Amino acid sequence: MTTDAVRDFAALAQANLTPVLGRYFERSWSYGEGHRLYDSDGKGYLDFANGIAVTALGHAHPRVTAAIHAQVDRLIGPISALGFAEPISRLAIELAATFPDPLDSVMFLNSGSEAIDGALKLARRVTGRAGIVAFRGGFHGRTYGATSVTTSNLNYRTGYEPFLPGVYFAPYPAVYQEFAGDEEAASTASLSILRSLFASVVAPSEVAAILIEPVLGEGGYIPAPASFLRGLRSLCDEHGILLIADEVQSGYGRTGAMWAFEHGGIVPDVVAVAKAIANGLPLSAIVSSRALQERWGRGAHGSTFGGNPVACAAGVAVLETIRDEDLLANARARGAELVAGLGKIAAEDDRIGDIRGLGLMVGVEFVRDRSTREPDASLPDQLMAACADAGLLVLTCGRSHEVVRWIPPLNVTAAEISEAVEIFGETLAALARG
Ligand SMILES: Cc1ncc(COP(=O)(O)O)c(C=O)c1O
Repeated sequence: MTTDAVRDFAALAQANLTPVLGRYFERSWSYGEGHRLYDSDGKGYLDFANGIAVTALGHAHPRVTAAIHAQVDRLIGPISALGFAEPISRLAIELAATFPDPLDSVMFLNSGSEAIDGALKLARRVTGRAGIVAFRGGFHGRTYGATSVTTSNLNYRTGYEPFLPGVYFAPYPAVYQEFAGDEEAASTASLSILRSLFASVVAPSEVAAILIEPVLGEGGYIPAPASFLRGLRSLCDEHGILLIADEVQSGYGRTGAMWAFEHGGIVPDVVAVAKAIANGLPLSAIVSSRALQERWGRGAHGSTFGGNPVACAAGVAVLETIRDEDLLANARARGAELVAGLGKIAAEDDRIGDIRGLGLMVGVEFVRDRSTREPDASLPDQLMAACADAGLLVLTCGRSHEVVRWIPPLNVTAAEISEAVEIFGETLAALARG
């Protein structure tokens, strides 16, 4: 059997492709163009999943594709261990320029998980402390370090103990579920639990880092209240703890700011960056102050493939496109249209409990009953499948998949937002109440 003979790549993969990887759809994809992904029958889907927040400029973006083609002809192989190369240095300069002071030093790696592992190693080496505080519901990746701080789904942890020692979990401010939308109450309660953790479980002087997703991603698309991020910043300052922001999903303009931590008016000590950085090619980065990476020390961390020149050339094109086309403003404007459109649907449909988000990182939480806010663990997955049948790709998230998450491309148009909202509304209406 060859790929020429069949268009059903799932059948083709039957014997040889791992059954371990989770998939949202059992469809066979052929190519992507702009904001549409095409299956092997040639049917186009409006792609608001983007490989889970990766192809933020859409598929086959002309500027990114041209940069990739040009670099492929010059130098493909890893070069960072041998010296310097133009696209790597240029991306480091341009990426650093998107951060506030003092964040100016970039280490390139390959994936979000690797960036998290590296950030944890940096924190331990630099502080000489072992403790790491992470938040319940967080997702940080699949390598051992990243899995050790991940609690968004038990299946990601089961059978893998013992994890990295010295990891402590605190509650992420569950603004809607536990505090009925009261951000300040959620923030105050979560900070107070964190303080009591420091009073009775682990001394803050033994904690190297607090690791947070400024917008909880896989865990349910929950933006951390600004006051919570500020509270974390001052706790870290008080105790000499490094604040690590996992911006793997929330960064790169997704929330209408370049970095989601900006919404809190804080500056973390270390930032993990990946996903959208090269619009589809594998690349990630750890960003911190130069002083911190100097203390980490030469040779303390590294990667054969990190900072691949082709991925970095794509990365330069991505950053320049975001800047030249003012895509942060587009993310804010289109995000507001999306939330308004979804709000109209929610006004007529009490299966929707909450619509929340920043910019183009929007979650719609489904409930069995608005008064109890009991999550609906089955409708969102059915809705996701039915939306795909109707030509729209959106994904679910949250511990029991109670949330439909919207991750449109940053350069999405108003017409595409309307088209998607219409498909979503019609599909939801058509789904019988269970
Ligand atoms: C917030 C966050 N951190 C880390 C990761 C891990 O990234 P990767 O899958 O590239 O290892 C992800 C992936 O979804 C993520 O959403």
